[in-house]
Amino acid sequence: MRVAVVGTGYVGLVTAAGLAAVGHHVTCVDSDPHRVDSANRGVPPFYEPGLAELLSSALSGGRLGATVDLAEAVVGADVIFIAVGTPSRDGEIDLDALSAAAESIGRCLAQSASWRLVVVKSTVVPGTTDTLVRGILEEASGRKAGSFGLCMNPEFLREGTAVEDFMKPDRIVIGQWDERSGRKLAEVYEPFDCPVLFTSLRNAEMAKYASNALLATLISFSNEMASICEATPGTDIDEVMSALHLDRRLNTFIDGRRHAPSILSYLKAGCGFGGSCLPKDILALRQFAKKNGVAANLLDSVMAVNAARPVALVAGVERALGTLEGAVIGVLGLAFKPASDDLRDSPALKIISLLNEKSAILRAYDPCVTELKGPYARCPVTLAPSPEALLEGADAAVLVTAWPEFQRLDWTALCRRMRRPVIVDGRNALRDIALPPEAGYLPIGRYHSVREPVNHGPVIQR
Ligand code: UGA
Repeated sequence: MRVAVVGTGYVGLVTAAGLAAVGHHVTCVDSDPHRVDSANRGVPPFYEPGLAELLSSALSGGRLGATVDLAEAVVGADVIFIAVGTPSRDGEIDLDALSAAAESIGRCLAQSASWRLVVVKSTVVPGTTDTLVRGILEEASGRKAGSFGLCMNPEFLREGTAVEDFMKPDRIVIGQWDERSGRKLAEVYEPFDCPVLFTSLRNAEMAKYASNALLATLISFSNEMASICEATPGTDIDEVMSALHLDRRLNTFIDGRRHAPSILSYLKAGCGFGGSCLPKDILALRQFAKKNGVAANLLDSVMAVNAARPVALVAGVERALGTLEGAVIGVLGLAFKPASDDLRDSPALKIISLLNEKSAILRAYDPCVTELKGPYARCPVTLAPSPEALLEGADAAVLVTAWPEFQRLDWTALCRRMRRPVIVDGRNALRDIALPPEAGYLPIGRYHSVREPVNHGPVIQR
Protein backbone atom coordinates (compact mmCIF):
# COMPACT_ATOMS: atom_id res chain seq x y z
CA MET A 1 0.00 0.00 0.00
CA ARG A 2 1.14 3.59 -0.55
CA VAL A 3 1.22 5.57 2.66
CA ALA A 4 1.98 9.20 3.49
CA VAL A 5 2.93 10.25 7.03
CA VAL A 6 2.68 13.95 7.81
CA GLY A 7 5.00 14.95 10.66
CA THR A 8 8.41 13.41 11.39
CA GLY A 9 8.56 13.63 15.17
CA TYR A 10 9.22 10.41 16.99
CA VAL A 11 5.67 9.13 16.40
CA GLY A 12 5.63 10.02 12.69
CA LEU A 13 9.11 8.76 11.92
CA VAL A 14 8.71 5.50 13.85
CA THR A 15 5.31 4.92 12.19
CA ALA A 16 6.78 5.61 8.75
CA ALA A 17 9.83 3.37 9.26
CA GLY A 18 7.72 0.62 10.85
CA LEU A 19 5.15 0.60 8.04
CA ALA A 20 7.95 0.55 5.46
CA ALA A 21 9.55 -2.37 7.32
CA VAL A 22 6.42 -4.48 6.78
CA GLY A 23 6.38 -3.72 3.05
CA HIS A 24 4.36 -0.52 2.55
CA HIS A 25 5.71 2.31 0.40
CA VAL A 26 5.92 5.31 2.67
CA THR A 27 6.57 9.00 2.07
CA CYS A 28 7.19 11.20 5.11
CA VAL A 29 6.33 14.90 5.02
CA ASP A 30 7.67 17.65 7.19
CA SER A 31 7.81 21.40 6.72
CA ASP A 32 11.29 21.43 8.30
CA PRO A 33 13.86 20.72 5.54
CA HIS A 34 16.44 19.60 8.13
CA ARG A 35 14.09 16.89 9.37
CA VAL A 36 13.35 15.80 5.80
CA ASP A 37 17.05 15.68 5.05
CA SER A 38 17.67 13.61 8.22
CA ALA A 39 14.94 11.14 7.26
CA ASN A 40 16.32 10.79 3.72
CA ARG A 41 19.79 10.11 5.11
CA GLY A 42 18.42 7.58 7.61
CA VAL A 43 19.62 9.64 10.55
CA PRO A 44 16.91 10.26 13.16
CA PRO A 45 17.06 13.84 14.50
CA PHE A 46 16.54 12.45 18.03
CA TYR A 47 17.75 9.50 20.06
CA GLU A 48 15.58 6.44 19.54
CA PRO A 49 17.17 2.98 19.78
CA GLY A 50 16.75 0.87 16.62
CA LEU A 51 15.26 3.67 14.50
CA ALA A 52 18.40 4.40 12.45
CA GLU A 53 18.64 0.71 11.45
CA LEU A 54 14.95 0.58 10.52
CA LEU A 55 15.22 3.78 8.47
CA SER A 56 18.35 2.64 6.66
CA SER A 57 16.86 -0.70 5.72
CA ALA A 58 13.64 0.97 4.45
CA LEU A 59 15.65 3.56 2.47
CA SER A 60 17.92 0.99 0.87
CA GLY A 61 14.88 -1.14 0.01
CA GLY A 62 13.37 1.87 -1.76
CA ARG A 63 10.28 1.80 0.45
CA LEU A 64 10.82 5.13 2.21
CA GLY A 65 11.37 8.72 1.22
CA ALA A 66 10.77 12.14 2.73
CA THR A 67 9.74 15.48 1.28
CA VAL A 68 8.71 18.98 2.31
CA ASP A 69 6.03 18.88 -0.38
CA LEU A 70 2.84 17.56 1.20
CA ALA A 71 0.94 17.47 -2.10
CA GLU A 72 3.64 15.32 -3.70
CA ALA A 73 3.38 12.77 -0.85
CA VAL A 74 -0.39 12.79 -0.58
CA VAL A 75 -1.25 12.67 -4.28
CA GLY A 76 -0.25 9.03 -4.72
CA ALA A 77 -1.13 7.78 -1.24
CA ASP A 78 -3.95 5.38 -0.37
CA VAL A 79 -3.64 6.20 3.32
CA ILE A 80 -2.49 9.50 4.85
CA PHE A 81 -1.48 9.58 8.52
CA ILE A 82 -1.41 12.89 10.38
CA ALA A 83 1.26 12.63 13.09
CA VAL A 84 2.01 16.28 13.80
CA GLY A 85 2.62 17.57 17.32
CA THR A 86 -0.20 18.78 19.56
CA PRO A 87 1.86 20.68 22.16
CA SER A 88 0.44 22.21 25.30
CA ARG A 89 -0.72 25.84 25.30
CA ASP A 90 -2.08 27.04 28.65
CA GLY A 91 -2.95 23.45 29.55
CA GLU A 92 -4.88 22.85 26.34
CA ILE A 93 -3.60 21.25 23.15
CA ASP A 94 -2.46 23.52 20.38
CA LEU A 95 -4.22 22.35 17.21
CA ASP A 96 -2.56 24.76 14.76
CA ALA A 97 -0.27 22.18 13.14
CA LEU A 98 -3.06 19.62 12.96
CA SER A 99 -5.44 22.12 11.36
CA ALA A 100 -2.80 23.20 8.83
CA ALA A 101 -2.08 19.58 7.90
CA ALA A 102 -5.80 18.79 7.53
CA GLU A 103 -6.28 21.82 5.31
CA SER A 104 -3.39 20.89 3.01
CA ILE A 105 -4.59 17.29 2.81
CA GLY A 106 -8.12 18.50 2.08
CA ARG A 107 -6.84 20.60 -0.83
CA CYS A 108 -5.13 17.48 -2.22
CA LEU A 109 -8.34 15.47 -1.84
CA ALA A 110 -10.06 18.08 -3.99
CA GLN A 111 -7.78 17.16 -6.90
CA SER A 112 -9.37 13.75 -7.51
CA ALA A 113 -12.57 11.91 -6.69
CA SER A 114 -10.77 8.74 -5.57
CA TRP A 115 -11.48 7.38 -2.08
CA ARG A 116 -8.52 7.78 0.21
CA LEU A 117 -8.18 7.34 3.94
CA VAL A 118 -7.06 10.09 6.34
CA VAL A 119 -5.88 8.87 9.76
CA VAL A 120 -5.35 11.12 12.78
CA LYS A 121 -2.50 9.74 14.88
CA SER A 122 -1.77 12.91 16.82
CA THR A 123 -3.16 12.91 20.36
CA VAL A 124 -6.37 14.96 20.38
CA VAL A 125 -9.25 15.40 22.81
CA PRO A 126 -12.51 13.57 22.06
CA GLY A 127 -14.48 15.18 19.27
CA THR A 128 -11.51 16.74 17.48
CA THR A 129 -11.43 14.25 14.59
CA ASP A 130 -15.14 14.21 13.83
CA THR A 131 -15.60 17.97 14.21
CA LEU A 132 -12.45 20.02 13.60
CA VAL A 133 -10.50 17.65 11.34
CA ARG A 134 -13.53 16.42 9.39
CA GLY A 135 -14.80 19.98 9.02
CA ILE A 136 -11.47 21.25 7.66
CA LEU A 137 -11.09 18.27 5.32
CA GLU A 138 -14.63 18.69 3.98
CA GLU A 139 -14.31 22.42 3.50
CA ALA A 140 -10.90 22.28 1.82
CA SER A 141 -11.81 19.33 -0.42
CA GLY A 142 -15.37 20.29 -1.21
CA ARG A 143 -16.24 16.65 -0.45
CA LYS A 144 -18.14 14.95 2.36
CA ALA A 145 -16.60 12.38 4.72
CA GLY A 146 -17.59 9.04 3.27
CA SER A 147 -16.30 10.07 -0.14
CA PHE A 148 -12.95 9.93 1.67
CA GLY A 149 -12.22 7.77 4.71
CA LEU A 150 -11.47 9.01 8.23
CA CYS A 151 -9.95 7.19 11.22
CA MET A 152 -8.45 8.06 14.57
CA ASN A 153 -5.63 5.69 15.47
CA PRO A 154 -3.87 6.57 18.74
CA GLU A 155 -0.27 5.58 19.28
CA PHE A 156 1.03 3.82 22.37
CA LEU A 157 4.75 4.24 21.70
CA ARG A 158 7.12 4.82 24.58
CA GLU A 159 10.18 6.93 23.86
CA GLY A 160 13.24 4.71 24.05
CA THR A 161 11.31 1.58 23.05
CA ALA A 162 9.16 3.12 20.31
CA VAL A 163 10.50 0.86 17.54
CA GLU A 164 9.84 -2.30 19.53
CA ASP A 165 6.42 -1.00 20.60
CA PHE A 166 5.54 -0.31 16.96
CA MET A 167 6.78 -3.62 15.56
CA LYS A 168 5.28 -5.70 18.38
CA PRO A 169 2.20 -3.75 19.43
CA ASP A 170 0.05 -4.83 22.36
CA ARG A 171 -3.07 -3.37 20.70
CA ILE A 172 -4.19 -1.43 17.69
CA VAL A 173 -7.10 0.89 18.32
CA ILE A 174 -9.03 1.92 15.22
CA GLY A 175 -11.55 4.69 15.68
CA GLN A 176 -13.59 4.75 12.48
CA TRP A 177 -15.90 7.24 10.79
CA ASP A 178 -17.43 4.37 8.83
CA GLU A 179 -16.74 0.66 8.34
CA ARG A 180 -14.90 1.13 5.06
CA SER A 181 -12.39 3.41 6.80
CA GLY A 182 -11.80 0.91 9.61
CA ARG A 183 -11.37 -1.98 7.17
CA LYS A 184 -8.80 -0.07 5.14
CA LEU A 185 -6.74 0.83 8.20
CA ALA A 186 -6.90 -2.77 9.40
CA GLU A 187 -5.37 -3.76 6.03
CA VAL A 188 -2.45 -1.42 6.69
CA TYR A 189 -1.84 -3.18 10.02
CA GLU A 190 -2.49 -6.68 8.66
CA PRO A 191 1.16 -7.78 9.09
CA PHE A 192 1.05 -7.07 12.85
CA ASP A 193 -0.08 -9.77 15.24
CA CYS A 194 -2.12 -8.23 18.07
CA PRO A 195 -5.72 -7.53 19.09
CA VAL A 196 -7.39 -4.87 16.94
CA LEU A 197 -10.17 -2.85 18.54
CA PHE A 198 -12.66 -1.17 16.22
CA THR A 199 -14.49 1.66 17.88
CA SER A 200 -15.79 5.19 17.37
CA LEU A 201 -13.49 8.14 16.66
CA ARG A 202 -14.21 9.63 20.08
CA ASN A 203 -13.58 6.40 21.98
CA ALA A 204 -10.23 6.07 20.23
CA GLU A 205 -9.32 9.64 21.19
CA MET A 206 -10.41 9.08 24.78
CA ALA A 207 -8.66 5.69 25.04
CA LYS A 208 -5.33 7.40 24.42
CA TYR A 209 -5.87 9.93 27.21
CA ALA A 210 -7.23 7.30 29.58
CA SER A 211 -4.12 5.12 28.98
CA ASN A 212 -1.71 7.92 29.82
CA ALA A 213 -3.88 9.08 32.74
CA LEU A 214 -3.68 5.57 34.20
CA LEU A 215 0.13 5.54 33.97
CA ALA A 216 0.42 8.99 35.55
CA THR A 217 -2.03 8.01 38.29
CA LEU A 218 -0.03 4.89 39.15
CA ILE A 219 3.14 6.97 39.43
CA SER A 220 1.51 9.65 41.58
CA PHE A 221 -0.13 6.98 43.72
CA SER A 222 3.31 5.44 44.36
CA ASN A 223 4.77 8.86 45.07
CA GLU A 224 2.02 9.75 47.53
CA MET A 225 2.66 6.47 49.35
CA ALA A 226 6.37 7.45 49.41
CA SER A 227 5.52 10.82 50.94
CA ILE A 228 3.51 9.08 53.68
CA CYS A 229 6.44 6.72 54.33
CA GLU A 230 8.79 9.70 54.51
CA ALA A 231 6.67 10.99 57.40
CA THR A 232 6.38 7.59 59.13
CA PRO A 233 9.26 6.14 61.15
CA GLY A 234 10.09 2.53 60.31
CA THR A 235 8.59 2.48 56.83
CA ASP A 236 10.31 1.99 53.49
CA ILE A 237 8.42 2.65 50.26
CA ASP A 238 10.29 0.01 48.25
CA GLU A 239 9.34 -2.76 50.68
CA VAL A 240 5.76 -1.50 50.79
CA MET A 241 5.51 -1.49 47.00
CA SER A 242 7.15 -4.92 46.77
CA ALA A 243 4.26 -6.25 48.85
CA LEU A 244 1.77 -4.63 46.45
CA HIS A 245 3.55 -6.06 43.43
CA LEU A 246 2.89 -9.58 44.74
CA ASP A 247 -0.88 -9.10 44.77
CA ARG A 248 -2.28 -11.92 42.62
CA ARG A 249 -4.62 -9.44 40.96
CA LEU A 250 -1.62 -7.56 39.59
CA ASN A 251 0.07 -10.67 38.22
CA THR A 252 -0.63 -13.33 35.62
CA PHE A 253 -0.11 -16.99 36.52
CA ILE A 254 0.72 -19.43 33.74
CA ASP A 255 1.15 -23.07 34.79
CA GLY A 256 1.38 -21.90 38.38
CA ARG A 257 4.26 -19.54 37.58
CA ARG A 258 3.98 -15.85 38.27
CA HIS A 259 4.45 -13.38 35.42
CA ALA A 260 4.70 -9.80 36.60
CA PRO A 261 3.31 -7.35 34.03
CA SER A 262 5.51 -4.42 33.05
CA ILE A 263 2.90 -1.96 34.28
CA LEU A 264 4.18 -2.73 37.78
CA SER A 265 7.22 -0.60 36.95
CA TYR A 266 4.88 2.42 37.10
CA LEU A 267 4.02 1.40 40.66
CA LYS A 268 7.37 2.64 41.87
CA ALA A 269 8.18 5.80 43.76
CA GLY A 270 10.51 8.39 42.27
CA CYS A 271 10.89 12.11 41.88
CA GLY A 272 8.02 12.53 39.43
CA PHE A 273 6.99 11.81 35.88
CA GLY A 274 7.83 13.99 32.90
CA GLY A 275 8.34 13.79 29.16
CA SER A 276 6.44 15.09 26.20
CA CYS A 277 3.30 13.05 26.83
CA LEU A 278 2.14 12.35 30.37
CA PRO A 279 2.20 15.92 31.78
CA LYS A 280 0.73 17.44 28.58
CA ASP A 281 -1.95 14.80 28.25
CA ILE A 282 -3.07 14.93 31.89
CA LEU A 283 -3.33 18.72 31.67
CA ALA A 284 -5.30 18.53 28.43
CA LEU A 285 -7.67 15.87 29.74
CA ARG A 286 -8.16 17.87 32.94
CA GLN A 287 -9.01 21.04 30.99
CA PHE A 288 -11.29 19.08 28.71
CA ALA A 289 -13.08 17.52 31.70
CA LYS A 290 -13.54 20.88 33.41
CA LYS A 291 -14.89 22.45 30.22
CA ASN A 292 -17.44 19.65 30.20
CA GLY A 293 -18.43 20.32 33.81
CA VAL A 294 -16.47 17.43 35.34
CA ALA A 295 -14.39 18.37 38.40
CA ALA A 296 -11.48 16.00 37.53
CA ASN A 297 -10.35 15.88 41.16
CA LEU A 298 -8.20 12.82 40.56
CA LEU A 299 -6.32 14.42 37.66
CA ASP A 300 -5.81 17.58 39.76
CA SER A 301 -4.26 15.45 42.49
CA VAL A 302 -2.11 13.45 40.06
CA MET A 303 -0.53 16.72 38.90
CA ALA A 304 -0.27 18.17 42.43
CA VAL A 305 1.51 15.07 43.77
CA ASN A 306 3.83 15.16 40.76
CA ALA A 307 4.69 18.82 41.31
CA ALA A 308 5.44 18.17 45.00
CA ARG A 309 8.06 15.45 44.48
CA PRO A 310 10.93 17.62 43.18
CA VAL A 311 10.21 20.10 45.99
CA ALA A 312 10.41 17.32 48.59
CA LEU A 313 13.63 16.00 47.10
CA VAL A 314 15.29 19.42 47.18
CA ALA A 315 14.13 19.90 50.80
CA GLY A 316 15.82 16.58 51.59
CA VAL A 317 19.09 17.72 49.99
CA GLU A 318 18.94 20.97 51.95
CA ARG A 319 18.35 19.15 55.23
CA ALA A 320 21.23 16.78 54.51
CA LEU A 321 23.69 19.59 53.74
CA GLY A 322 22.46 22.15 56.26
CA THR A 323 22.43 24.85 53.59
CA LEU A 324 22.38 24.84 49.81
CA GLU A 325 23.99 28.23 49.46
CA GLY A 326 27.28 27.72 47.65
CA ALA A 327 26.96 23.92 47.86
CA VAL A 328 28.27 22.11 44.79
CA ILE A 329 25.64 19.64 43.62
CA GLY A 330 26.21 17.02 40.92
CA VAL A 331 22.95 16.01 39.25
CA LEU A 332 23.02 12.53 37.73
CA GLY A 333 20.67 12.39 34.75
CA LEU A 334 18.85 15.12 32.84
CA ALA A 335 16.51 13.24 30.49
CA PHE A 336 12.99 12.54 31.75
CA LYS A 337 13.77 8.83 31.75
CA PRO A 338 16.66 6.51 30.84
CA ALA A 339 17.25 5.54 27.18
CA SER A 340 16.09 8.97 26.08
CA ASP A 341 17.66 12.36 25.44
CA ASP A 342 14.33 14.12 25.86
CA LEU A 343 14.40 17.00 28.33
CA ARG A 344 10.79 18.04 27.89
CA ASP A 345 9.16 18.43 31.30
CA SER A 346 12.00 16.49 32.87
CA PRO A 347 11.92 16.39 36.70
CA ALA A 348 15.69 17.03 36.55
CA LEU A 349 15.09 20.53 35.19
CA LYS A 350 12.62 21.31 37.99
CA ILE A 351 15.08 20.04 40.60
CA ILE A 352 17.90 22.10 39.04
CA SER A 353 15.73 25.20 39.03
CA LEU A 354 14.75 24.72 42.70
CA LEU A 355 18.37 24.11 43.75
CA ASN A 356 19.41 27.18 41.78
CA GLU A 357 16.85 29.30 43.64
CA LYS A 358 18.64 28.24 46.83
CA SER A 359 21.97 29.39 45.38
CA ALA A 360 23.54 25.97 44.91
CA ILE A 361 26.31 25.58 42.31
CA LEU A 362 25.03 23.08 39.80
CA ARG A 363 26.63 20.54 37.54
CA ALA A 364 24.93 17.73 35.64
CA TYR A 365 25.89 14.60 33.76
CA ASP A 366 23.68 12.54 31.47
CA PRO A 367 25.00 9.78 29.19
CA CYS A 368 22.75 10.99 26.35
CA VAL A 369 22.67 14.77 26.80
CA THR A 370 25.89 16.46 25.76
CA GLU A 371 24.69 19.99 25.19
CA LEU A 372 21.88 22.22 26.37
CA LYS A 373 20.45 24.11 23.46
CA GLY A 374 17.27 25.88 22.38
CA PRO A 375 14.88 26.37 25.30
CA TYR A 376 17.38 24.69 27.66
CA ALA A 377 20.36 26.87 26.80
CA ARG A 378 19.76 29.10 29.84
CA CYS A 379 19.40 26.20 32.29
CA PRO A 380 21.58 27.19 35.28
CA VAL A 381 23.82 24.14 35.18
CA THR A 382 27.22 23.22 33.80
CA LEU A 383 27.44 19.93 31.95
CA ALA A 384 30.18 17.61 33.16
CA PRO A 385 31.84 15.24 30.68
CA SER A 386 31.88 12.29 33.08
CA PRO A 387 30.54 11.19 36.48
CA GLU A 388 34.07 11.70 37.85
CA ALA A 389 34.19 15.32 36.68
CA LEU A 390 30.65 15.81 37.95
CA LEU A 391 31.43 14.78 41.50
CA GLU A 392 34.97 16.17 41.89
CA GLY A 393 34.79 18.30 45.05
CA ALA A 394 30.97 18.08 45.16
CA ASP A 395 28.93 18.34 48.34
CA ALA A 396 26.20 16.01 47.12
CA ALA A 397 25.28 13.73 44.23
CA VAL A 398 21.59 13.86 43.32
CA LEU A 399 20.42 10.95 41.15
CA VAL A 400 17.36 11.98 39.14
CA THR A 401 17.28 9.70 36.06
CA ALA A 402 17.74 5.99 36.69
CA TRP A 403 20.24 5.23 33.92
CA PRO A 404 21.44 1.64 34.60
CA GLU A 405 25.07 2.76 34.16
CA PHE A 406 24.79 4.83 37.33
CA GLN A 407 24.48 1.55 39.24
CA ARG A 408 27.70 0.29 37.66
CA LEU A 409 29.82 3.30 38.67
CA ASP A 410 32.68 2.85 41.12
CA TRP A 411 30.95 4.64 43.98
CA THR A 412 33.84 4.10 46.38
CA ALA A 413 36.16 6.01 44.06
CA LEU A 414 33.51 8.64 43.33
CA CYS A 415 32.84 9.27 47.03
CA ARG A 416 36.56 9.86 47.55
CA ARG A 417 36.42 12.65 44.98
CA MET A 418 33.57 14.40 46.74
CA ARG A 419 34.00 17.08 49.38
CA ARG A 420 31.08 15.55 51.27
CA PRO A 421 30.01 12.07 50.11
CA VAL A 422 26.28 12.65 50.34
CA ILE A 423 24.23 10.72 47.78
CA VAL A 424 20.59 11.67 47.30
CA ASP A 425 18.81 8.97 45.33
CA GLY A 426 15.64 10.31 43.68
CA ARG A 427 14.89 6.92 42.10
CA ASN A 428 16.16 4.54 44.81
CA ALA A 429 18.37 3.15 42.07
CA LEU A 430 21.44 2.68 44.27
CA ARG A 431 19.84 1.09 47.29
CA ASP A 432 21.40 -2.34 46.56
CA ILE A 433 24.76 -0.95 45.47
CA ALA A 434 27.74 -1.20 47.81
CA LEU A 435 28.67 2.28 48.98
CA PRO A 436 31.70 3.12 51.11
CA PRO A 437 30.96 3.41 54.86
CA GLU A 438 31.67 7.13 54.88
CA ALA A 439 28.93 7.78 52.30
CA GLY A 440 25.74 9.41 53.45
CA TYR A 441 22.92 7.81 51.52
CA LEU A 442 19.55 9.53 51.24
CA PRO A 443 16.92 7.40 49.53
CA ILE A 444 13.33 8.44 48.94
CA GLY A 445 10.36 7.01 50.80
CA ARG A 446 12.03 6.44 54.14
CA TYR A 447 11.50 8.42 57.30
CA HIS A 448 15.17 9.36 57.75
CA SER A 449 15.33 10.71 54.30
CA VAL A 450 13.35 13.83 55.03
CA ARG A 451 13.42 14.18 58.80
CA GLU A 452 16.92 13.81 60.16
CA PRO A 453 19.16 16.77 59.51
CA VAL A 454 22.65 15.58 58.73
CA ASN A 455 25.30 18.20 58.41
CA HIS A 456 28.76 17.46 57.13
CA GLY A 457 28.39 13.73 57.47
CA PRO A 458 26.61 10.53 56.74
CA VAL A 459 22.87 10.51 56.31
CA ILE A 460 22.20 6.82 56.71
CA GLN A 461 24.93 4.37 57.59
CA ARG A 462 24.36 1.16 55.69
C1 UGA B 1 4.02 7.41 27.37
C2 UGA B 1 3.21 6.11 27.34
O1 UGA B 1 3.88 5.10 28.07
C3 UGA B 1 3.01 5.62 25.93
O2 UGA B 1 2.15 4.48 25.93
C4 UGA B 1 2.38 6.74 25.08
O3 UGA B 1 2.23 6.35 23.75
C5 UGA B 1 3.27 7.96 25.14
O4 UGA B 1 3.40 8.38 26.52
C6 UGA B 1 2.64 9.06 24.34
O5 UGA B 1 1.59 9.55 24.75
O6 UGA B 1 3.11 9.33 23.24
P1 UGA B 1 6.63 8.01 27.26
O7 UGA B 1 6.24 9.39 27.67
O8 UGA B 1 7.59 7.80 26.17
O9 UGA B 1 5.31 7.14 26.85
O10 UGA B 1 7.26 7.36 28.48
P2 UGA B 1 7.01 6.25 29.59
O11 UGA B 1 8.04 5.23 29.39
O12 UGA B 1 5.62 5.79 29.77
O13 UGA B 1 7.40 7.19 30.79
C7 UGA B 1 6.52 8.16 31.30
C8 UGA B 1 6.89 8.43 32.73
O14 UGA B 1 6.73 7.23 33.45
C9 UGA B 1 8.34 8.86 32.87
O15 UGA B 1 8.43 9.95 33.72
C10 UGA B 1 9.03 7.65 33.44
O16 UGA B 1 10.07 7.99 34.32
C11 UGA B 1 7.90 6.92 34.15
N1 UGA B 1 8.08 5.47 34.07
C12 UGA B 1 8.36 4.91 32.87
C13 UGA B 1 7.97 4.71 35.19
O17 UGA B 1 7.68 5.22 36.28
N2 UGA B 1 8.15 3.36 35.08
C14 UGA B 1 8.46 2.79 33.90
O18 UGA B 1 8.64 1.55 33.83
C15 UGA B 1 8.56 3.57 32.77
